[in-house]
Amino acid sequence: MKLAVLPGDGIGPEIVAQAVKVLDALRHDGLQVEMEEAPIGGAGYEAAKDPLPEATFKLAQEADAVLLGAVGDWKYDSLPRDLRPERGLLRIRKGLNLFANLRPALLYPELASASTLKPEVVAGLDLMIVRELTGDIYFGQPRGISTLEDGQREGINTMRYNETEIRRIGRIAFDIAMKRNKKVCSVDKANVLESTELWRQVMIEIARDYPEVELSHMYVDNAAMQLVRAPKQFDVMVTGNIFGDILSDEASMLTGSIGMLPSASLDEHNKGMYEPSHGSAPDIAGKDIANPLATILSVAMMFKYSFDDEATASRIDNAVKKVIAAGYRTGDIWTEGCTKVSCSGMGDAVVAAL
Ligand code: IPM
Ligand code: MG
Repeated sequence: MKLAVLPGDGIGPEIVAQAVKVLDALRHDGLQVEMEEAPIGGAGYEAAKDPLPEATFKLAQEADAVLLGAVGDWKYDSLPRDLRPERGLLRIRKGLNLFANLRPALLYPELASASTLKPEVVAGLDLMIVRELTGDIYFGQPRGISTLEDGQREGINTMRYNETEIRRIGRIAFDIAMKRNKKVCSVDKANVLESTELWRQVMIEIARDYPEVELSHMYVDNAAMQLVRAPKQFDVMVTGNIFGDILSDEASMLTGSIGMLPSASLDEHNKGMYEPSHGSAPDIAGKDIANPLATILSVAMMFKYSFDDEATASRIDNAVKKVIAAGYRTGDIWTEGCTKVSCSGMGDAVVAAL
């Protein structure tokens, strides 16, 4: 298997280095993985004046899967939008047609007290957010900032979804629900936005093909509230790009820390890009204190979804469980009585547990 490794910016290189350690350990045990690294985001801009250099995109296209750290740094905020790190990430998602973003929020029992919510609210949480990733207001045209006749400026973005886009992400959500608790909650704002009114109609149509799955609908504002009120009511949540971006950050806090949430972004053939759900956290970059578990868990997702290798995926998942049960914590999930470890210390602990 060939893997494109794109560390990116901020804490990206540190957390990816821990995931690579895990992959190296698996290689040592005979797993055939070849890795090649390339710059993206701010690192891409530094290397080739492009947040997604052509060589990086080509490598990603040819690889069997992509492992990504994170992109973004405040120092690029004044660049033209097309040259900013985030644009590199959006272009690789779109360019590889990675429309299905899976963000599982799973609470490890030992971390119940690390969440800002009461332990009884989050204990046992196991939720899958299915976020559409290549459409919606993120990509809709027209967009831009222009000057109106009266001289003032206007910013425009367009929220739009066609049926094909909605149907393919809906099917993914229903298929995943069939392997879980058979409940799909579709999140929209159908009371106000036509694009999501269509979203709801299409979800209802898909549900006819899945008689065993219970479909419910929720407006996004209510969903945001329900996620902190009673998150365990959810099994699979399916939603558009922007709502999914916001709700997945919210859901990550239910698991104790945003540093725990992995993600998979898949095309229709299960080729995927794997990255933590969190960002590049430039404020703590280079300090060796970031939590690498979301990235390591993303590698487990890679084995499960792209390589169809459940055994290796569980092996990594179990190593993470062991490390947490043994009391190792990075600062973001640390509580009294646990052993505080650095980012690289956590990587070493997972390798030892493997
Ligand atoms: C995410 C991030 C990205 C997004 C940013 C960095 C462009 O927040 O993956 O959730 O908005 O999709
Ligand atoms: Mg986000």
